[in-house]
Amino acid sequence: MGTSISNPPEGEATATTQRRYDRQAALFDLTELPLELLVFRGLRRRLWGQIDGQHVLEIGVGTGKNIPFHPANARVVAIDLSPKMLSRAVSRAGSLEHRPDFVLADAQHLPFRNGAFEETASTFVFCSVPDPIAGLKEARRVVRDDGHVNLLEHVRAPNSLLGWLMDRLNPIAVRLTGANINRDTVANVERAGIRLDSVESEKLGIVRLMRGLHPRGAPARVEDTRKIRPVLPPK
Ligand SMILES: C[S@@+](CC[C@H](N)C(=O)[O-])C[C@H]1O[C@@H](n2cnc3c(N)ncnc32)[C@H](O)[C@@H]1O
Repeated sequence: MGTSISNPPEGEATATTQRRYDRQAALFDLTELPLELLVFRGLRRRLWGQIDGQHVLEIGVGTGKNIPFHPANARVVAIDLSPKMLSRAVSRAGSLEHRPDFVLADAQHLPFRNGAFEETASTFVFCSVPDPIAGLKEARRVVRDDGHVNLLEHVRAPNSLLGWLMDRLNPIAVRLTGANINRDTVANVERAGIRLDSVESEKLGIVRLMRGLHPRGAPARVEDTRKIRPVLPPK
């Protein structure tokens, strides 16, 4: 078990996203606490309850709020773009027996071979990945043919007035938090070539719990041969 760094972020939008999460890492858990207790925690439990693989990739682990829900019998690799968010996750995992392996990496260019995992899991991540379809294609690429992509995401409200309001507020939300509040992530998942097996709708349709399948026979991308360099845990 350890902490690694792969490729540095590419592109201005990705660097900006990294800076935004680094900036809020120290207060992230505190600012999200009410929503966490009232809404998110139960949904996290449901997402992780549907995962039964032995090799699991958590994309965008953040400060590690999902770590208590990681299956005890699985080997979990947890990645994030932000060194400061990742550092919090490393501290949260502490000396747990089933500590994940942490990797500083960009979801848009995952440093793993095709089909390396049985399952991927992510919670509230693809609202902030600059190119969400590229990131979702990567999630699809790194799961086995019979694997699953599991997502918990907030999306643009289906109600037209609420959706309109989210569109107006989105530029402010992105600047403050890095998260787009009006993305249609269900459509993005399908655009990325993931066949959705189930989509559950919660909280006026603003939160979606998704489980997708890698369609068999989809063309695999050439294996990514970039190396992962071990480094000390980020401070
Ligand atoms: C809203 S936070 C959610 C964190 C955690 N999954 C949770 O549920 O609390 C979004 C996370 O996605 C990460 N992220 C954004 N873009 C990313 C990318 N391109 N690659 C990897 N992680 C990314 C951010 O650094 C941040 O930690």
